[in-house]
Amino acid sequence: MKGIILHGGHGTRLRPLTHTGPKQLLPIANKPMSEYCVDAIRDCGISDIAIIVGGIGSNKVKEYYGNGSKFNVNISYIEQDEPKGIAHAINLCKSFVGTEKFLVFLGDNIIQKSISGISEKFESSNDDALVLLCEVPNPERFGIADVKDNKITKIIEKPKNPPTNLAVTGIYFLTTKIFDVFSRLKPSWRNELEITDALQMLLEENNIVNFEMITDYWKDTGTPDDIIHANGEVLKNMQSYFLGTKQDGSELLGNTMIGTDSSISGTSKILGPCIIGKDCTIGENCTIGPNVSIGDNSKLTNCNIQNSIIMENCIIDSNLKIRNSILASNSSIRLDAENDEKILLLGEGTKILL
Ligand code: TTP
Repeated sequence: MKGIILHGGHGTRLRPLTHTGPKQLLPIANKPMSEYCVDAIRDCGISDIAIIVGGIGSNKVKEYYGNGSKFNVNISYIEQDEPKGIAHAINLCKSFVGTEKFLVFLGDNIIQKSISGISEKFESSNDDALVLLCEVPNPERFGIADVKDNKITKIIEKPKNPPTNLAVTGIYFLTTKIFDVFSRLKPSWRNELEITDALQMLLEENNIVNFEMITDYWKDTGTPDDIIHANGEVLKNMQSYFLGTKQDGSELLGNTMIGTDSSISGTSKILGPCIIGKDCTIGENCTIGPNVSIGDNSKLTNCNIQNSIIMENCIIDSNLKIRNSILASNSSIRLDAENDEKILLLGEGTKILL
């Protein structure tokens, strides 16, 4: 089998974070979200992966993953000139796939449990496609599967009156049959070639579209809240480690992951789940966590942070309580005690709620 990861798209809901790079490289527990897809695909025994790139930051994706050797897989890249839809992106992989079955991951879909058992089952089955379904509280926001007698009868995109609460996740096991459907697919109202329309056509033409349930965790991380939630979930399941230094008096509670050469001062508390990357300085008077990721080489003093993602090379010295926030790499928040004028240098689309 082959693997495909979709790494294009607009990422409008995550602006301004996506002005400088693709959303799929945003970190969850200090690791780009699409790396969780690479891990899950490799765990299925698949070693050839195509990554669809397009638009801003394609080079960053290539720089990060290279030829895949660092990740024990072979990675090639396929350019999508414009985000014309998920089906459009997958269709670009026709020659990469050849005659094999394949597993597609949308690069912003996070799962926690292995799907290697499902992959094996699909490989030896005569299913034409297999989708992973997950119960959601708000089915009108998703592509939804209607299931009767344990069979999918219909797939509908964002239904006003959802027949079930079973969302079709962005993880698809497919066969080359889908390419024939793609060639007959018409763009939707939003002018995209939709994967849900293609799956519905497969069903209507009496092909076997099977399903498996994800019963633990699945998140499509399209919005800041989704990313912060996924970050907390992934952190919760990590094992503690401590590779840095700490002064007497500092406290680490719960599962905390502290990277190489990071230091924690005597008056600071780290409340798990929390990850701190490499070469970070946690100075005086910090309370960090729970559900916090701090990227490499960040320096924090006098701050109280919960439920947030602070990326690499950030500086915080502010007496501020930071909650439910994402701070991109190289940002700084500092209190200037000598000067009561506030200085804000904000990128396009920045959101600040004081
Ligand atoms: P979406 O989250 O539906 O779209 P988007 O990434 O453009 O984001 P937004 O709605 O905030 O503007 O895309 C689902 C996934 O598929 C995501 O990982 C991006 C990827 N994708 C492509 O690679 N090519 C495409 O043409 C589209 C539409 C999405």
